[in-house]
Amino acid sequence: MNFENILVEKKKALAVITINRPKKLNALNKATIEELHTAFKNVEEDNSVRVIILTGSGTKAFVAGADISEFSNFGIQEGLHLAQKGQEILFDYVANLFKPVIACINGFALGGGLELAMACHFRIASENAKMGLPEVSLGVIPGYGGTQRLPQLVGKGKAMEMIMTAAMISAEDAKVNQLVNYVVPQEELLPLAEKLASRIANNSSTAISAAIRAINANYEKEVNGFDIEIQEFGECFGTEDFKEGTTAFLEKRKPNFD
Ligand code: COA
Repeated sequence: MNFENILVEKKKALAVITINRPKKLNALNKATIEELHTAFKNVEEDNSVRVIILTGSGTKAFVAGADISEFSNFGIQEGLHLAQKGQEILFDYVANLFKPVIACINGFALGGGLELAMACHFRIASENAKMGLPEVSLGVIPGYGGTQRLPQLVGKGKAMEMIMTAAMISAEDAKVNQLVNYVVPQEELLPLAEKLASRIANNSSTAISAAIRAINANYEKEVNGFDIEIQEFGECFGTEDFKEGTTAFLEKRKPNFD
């Protein structure tokens, strides 16, 4: 499928999705959000893909936020719809994808850009990356899950500070605050993501999906995460991957989860 605002590249079990509006610092307009939804849906349904990397084109920006030019004249109902639709088709969609998604933050990740990175299952960053939720400087608040996911990652106090000041933090600060797992020079960012992805791809994809559901359950108010873990744990015993993984261990060989 041809996209106008994103690139999708497949490398064996890995799919790399690149947001590609460099002249607008990869800002998320409506069309880009819709294309990302389609791309994530496609890779989710593609049995050959086991891990997904999400990044921005160029070396300056991952995503510099939602496209301000598209919503500056919106009223209340349009604002509500913008956040609701975006969360449904992209941000929550990515967070609940049953295949692992790694955000490669290669520059500015601001507003909707940081919210998109936070919706991914984990994040790595280049040394030049800068992150923040500057929405209150525009008279609005984060609307793509930022008020919920930032405190989950950095704690309530730091999230309050970041959102209230609208300030950007450096990649190193983001690592200290557990917003990203690793910080590396720009040229090492994708290689590191691919190394992590290939380690993940060697493991059982059914077990990884179960782990994503169980970990995400920790953040859902209506469910007990421990109950979900018990359920998912039990279900694993009915899978081919469980038979292969345990048999391979007992036969002292590497498992083959293809
Ligand atoms: N929405 C729409 N356009 C954006 C954008 C956004 N969130 N972020 C950047 N752009 C556009 C700029 O308008 C500019 O377009 P132009 O060349 O047609 O004028 C282009 O991207 C380059 O950005 P520019 O501001 O010239 O780059 P810079 O290096 O001087 O500054 C930033 C970089 C990231 C500090 C600055 O672009 C910025 O503050 N962006 C908005 C961040 C934000 O508030 N995001 C949250 C949105 S809810």
